[in-house]
Amino acid sequence: MSETRSIFRGVGGYLPARIVTNDELSKSLDTSDEWIVQRVGIRQRHIAAEGEVTSDLATAAARRALANAGLTIDDIDLIVVATTTPDKTYPATAAFVQNKLGMRHGAAFDLQAVCSGFVYATATADSMLKNGLARRALVIGAETNSRILDWTDRSTCVLFGDGAGAAVLELVTLERGEAERGILASSLRADGQHWDKLYVDGGPSSSQTVGHVRMEGKEVFKHAVGKITDVVETVLAKTGYTVADLDWFVPHQANRRIIDGAGAKLGIPPEKVIVTVDRHANTSAASVPLALATGVEDGRIKRGDLVLLEAMGAGFTWGATLVRW
Ligand code: ACO
Repeated sequence: MSETRSIFRGVGGYLPARIVTNDELSKSLDTSDEWIVQRVGIRQRHIAAEGEVTSDLATAAARRALANAGLTIDDIDLIVVATTTPDKTYPATAAFVQNKLGMRHGAAFDLQAVCSGFVYATATADSMLKNGLARRALVIGAETNSRILDWTDRSTCVLFGDGAGAAVLELVTLERGEAERGILASSLRADGQHWDKLYVDGGPSSSQTVGHVRMEGKEVFKHAVGKITDVVETVLAKTGYTVADLDWFVPHQANRRIIDGAGAKLGIPPEKVIVTVDRHANTSAASVPLALATGVEDGRIKRGDLVLLEAMGAGFTWGATLVRW
């Protein structure tokens, strides 16, 4: 019997040109390279140029993903942008991306699940493809976090960066006997009672302002490792695979200690974990696709590999997707 699956046909990332090191931050902030590296493993972050908006980053990443897939925008009929830093309150950033890419057909919308955005968007696009709503989707995570940071708050501003990552998902039919490929299972979770542990203190309906990131770091840390391991175990259980079968673990890049803690609790060897947080910092919804693009471009993630994507963020939201590359 044949089976339909959404495969990752191409991936691409984009980072703004400007790099800000910890030493540069410590010139205007009471912090140090030593503190930041020891607590979160971040050495630098990319920051968008003045006038460079989230849809610019998303469009650049999308172009690279299309090139990697060997496709053009005419082949795409759905754009989903996961972002928490939209260009405008509306229309959706996805509409700006669609326009910049010159696409005049299909559908485009944004999805807001903060750092879990790309995993949520991947699961959503996968469901839409399987239900006949589209055939090929551009799934993008893009953020200009620098625009919602309080640059005087050393406990948050050192943690984040700007960037975008994109993937082309394509619906394929696998005939009986054909090798397994594509998204095997996803699991999504949320628990809104924790909203005040990590949030932005502004919004159109509450304050009519954009606001700044506020965080209870210790609380976020306390929840992160447990929630990540839970959702990873859930998604593996859906497929019958175990941690030992994994070739690559591509976690949300929030913080080196959270990545190491989750990896250790799950029993994933460090050499199977893709880490970019040292160079990119936390790029929220862009972090997983940027890490994925890094692993594919440098040749680590190869066709046939079993790849686990995972993210956890504000809400709280968390989720995981298991993919046969
Ligand atoms: N540089 C120097 N000192 C700092 C800095 C900084 N950038 N930030 C905080 N400090 C100081 C504090 O002021 C405090 O000083 P005090 O003892 O004089 O009061 C001291 O360091 C300890 O502060 P704590 O907040 O207790 O530090 P903690 O050990 O909890 O570490 C951290 C803070 C690194 C943020 C930690 O809580 C953490 O990793 N939390 C997870 C947060 C995270 O990753 N968020 C990302 C978004 S969520 C997600 O994507 C999953």
